Amino acid sequence: MSHAPSLRLFLLVGLIIGLAGLAPASPATAADGNAKAGKAIYEKHCIACHGKTGKGIGTLPNLSDPRTLAGRPDAQLFEKITNGGQGSGMPAWGGVLSEPQRWDVLAYIKTLAK
Ligand code: HEC
Repeated sequence: MSHAPSLRLFLLVGLIIGLAGLAPASPATAADGNAKAGKAIYEKHCIACHGKTGKGIGTLPNLSDPRTLAGRPDAQLFEKITNGGQGSGMPAWGGVLSEPQRWDVLAYIKTLAK
């Protein structure tokens, strides 16, 4: 049985990988989003109201001003993008964009404030 030790090693490695897969995933943040992919989404779906620079039309929150999103948790902004403003004029994107796409566009929005 000269193969037994390598078989045991194989099983051990498999067990470790299996257990790692069971570890709870940490909550997603804008850092998980791809701002480059988000730019294309923004230009397609958001630019009409929020404008190329993020300044926005009329009285919209100015996303190009760092104070607008300062101190706002990613989860809260993600929720706003997903469910919209409920009567505020901000549409809900949960049924239009996938979850990774919503993180991508949030990651891009965060690059607008300089
Ligand atoms: C039809 C116009 C319209 C479009 C299109 C639109 N928004 Fe908005 N958005 C608004 C309005 C109006 C507000 C302000 C009211 C509110 O926060 O609910 C807003 C607010 C926001 C806020 C919150 C800002 C804050 O300070 O709370 C975020 C984030 C946002 N939009 C992201 C997006 C993204 C991402 C898209 C594209 C996927 C998008 N918006 C498309 C109208 C729009």
